[in-house]
Order: sequence, then structure tokens, then C-alpha cells
Amino acid sequence: MPKLQEMMTVVSQREVARDIFEMVLTGEIVADMEVPGQFLHIKVPNDAMLLRRPISISSWDSETNTCTILYRAGDEVTGTRLLSVLTAGQKIDVMGPLGHGFPIDEVKKGERVLIVGGGIGVPPLYELAKRLSKVSCKITVLLGFASKEVKILEQEFRELSNVELKVATDDGSYGTQGHVGLLMNDLDFEPDAVYTCGAAPMLKAVAQKYDTLERLYISMESRMACGIGACYACVEHDKNDESKALKVCEDGPVFTGNEVLL
Ligand SMILES: Cc1cc2nc3c(=O)[nH]c(=O)nc-3n(C[C@H](O)[C@H](O)[C@H](O)COP(=O)(O)OP(=O)(O)OC[C@H]3O[C@@H](n4cnc5c(N)ncnc54)[C@H](O)[C@@H]3O)c2cc1C
Ligand code: FES
Repeated sequence: MPKLQEMMTVVSQREVARDIFEMVLTGEIVADMEVPGQFLHIKVPNDAMLLRRPISISSWDSETNTCTILYRAGDEVTGTRLLSVLTAGQKIDVMGPLGHGFPIDEVKKGERVLIVGGGIGVPPLYELAKRLSKVSCKITVLLGFASKEVKILEQEFRELSNVELKVATDDGSYGTQGHVGLLMNDLDFEPDAVYTCGAAPMLKAVAQKYDTLERLYISMESRMACGIGACYACVEHDKNDESKALKVCEDGPVFTGNEVLL
């Protein structure tokens, strides 16, 4: 029976890039983590901030019973900034794992998989790539960041087998100069499956390029309140029926390209 909510313990926290923090947490709900792309709904340690912050699970380790998140801390009046000052041993109120993640069971050995990530959308793609690299498919990962100061997880992706990684930065301070879409346009193969997470314009570019691909998986973001499908704060339009609401927290955050209107 999933536990869903608990006081998790902070194992460690460090700033891995400018204003981007990596927090490792331990708790019983790690045992419920099965699919990459799910998220945690985190209570900020300030009673005046009632709404939880949705943050993707970047990776988890069942053996050590830990999970890792990477998140950008806003300015000093934001909830994420308050999270960023927590230190090892402190407790934090967490709901999760929530939502539907990236389907990976259909990926077969030898298939070509494309993963496209941007900015703070990159973290959930790391557990995805870890899982897929064990299937021995050929994985191309394209990551885009605003600049090298906010580049994350590059080394972790490079250490995975069967992964070819390319990085772009908007200002050209690292890798190819320009938007990650430029890297996508240079590809010389047709992928069997595409997975993406990042800012809305990037998702749109990926969805347009691969609009006929059945296995196109898009992780969406939305302002959330309850996080469990009850309040309808997080709705997006259904591609096939604009009058129908898709809830990012419950039906998503990962949708197929055929489901969601971008
Ligand atoms: C499914 C999902 C996964 C996410 N994963 C990550 C992640 O791995 N790393 C990361 O850095 N960010 C992630 N985000 C975005 C993150 O939730 C927001 O940046 C964060 O909630 C902003 O909170 P704040 O305390 O910094 O800002 P505040 O200004 O204090 O937030 C005010 C309110 O707006 C909400 N809000 C503000 N921006 C967003 C946003 N972009 N999305 C949803 N709610 C927002 C906050 O949750 C809060 O309720 C994710 C969002 C979603 C929906
Ligand atoms: S956040 Fe309440 S329904 Fe999605």
C-alpha cells in the first residue's frame, strides 16, 4: 500500500550550479518509486506558504532508500529558497511519488531513442536515461541550457552506457551555441521513441518535429495546488477534444504527443 505522504529526512544538499540545488532525501516512499518522470509535492518549511512545490524525481536508489531532486531556488521570498537552506538530518513534509511518468517498457534492444531536455526540465530525464541505458538501445541525449553556469547533470549522463550526449547553450558559453532545437535539426536518424521535458517553446518544437510519432512523450509543467487530481488547478487542453481537461498532476505530468495540445 503506497504511503503517499511522510516526513522525509534530508541526507544532503548542495548547490550544483548557480541557484540550482541537489537534495538527497530518504524515506519509506522511495520504495513506491517505479517509473521515471513522477514528482514529489513538497511542503515548504514555512506555515504561511500553504501550497506545496511540485519537483520531479531526478533519480532514486532502492538499495540506499534515497531519492534525488534538482531544483532552482528563486529569490529570497520564494518557497524553493527556503528549501535550499535545509541541511542534513532535517525533516521535510513530502507527498509522492505522484503522477504518470515516462513509459519505458516498450523500448527494445537496438532501438533509437531521442531524449531532449532543457534547463530545469533535465532532472527527470536522468533516471529515464539510466533505465533505458540498461535496455541496450541507442540513446541520443540533447540538452540545452541558458549558459554554462546553469548546466546540470552533464557528467552523470556521460557516464551512462549507450548514451551519446550533446549540449547547447543559448549564449554559447558551453557546447553548441543556440537553442537545443538546433541540435535536433542536425540529427541524421529517425528515432523510434522521443522523450522530452523543458520549457514550453522547446516542447512545442519537439512536438512539431515529431508530430507523427506515436511514441512521443512530453512532460508538462503547470501551476499546481492539490497535486492529486482534486482541485483542477493544473488543467491543459486535450488535443482531440478542447472541451476536455487533462490534469497535469494526475493524468500527467507525462503525456503522449497525441494527447496534449501545445
Ligand atoms: C510536475 C512538475 C515538475 C517540476 N519539476 C521541477 C524540478 O525538477 N526542478 C525545478 O526546479 N522545478 C520544477 N518544477 C517547477 C517548480 O515546481 C516551480 O519552479 C516551483 O514550484 C516554484 O516555486 P517557488 O517557491 O520558487 O516560487 P514562488 O514564486 O514562491 O511560487 C509561488 C507559487 O507558484 C507555483 N509555481 C511557480 N512557478 C511554477 C512552475 N513553473 N510550475 C508549477 N508551479 C509553479 C509554486 O508552486 C507556488 O505555489 C516542476 C513543476 C511541475 C509542475
Ligand atoms: S493540482 Fe489539483 S488537480 Fe492538479
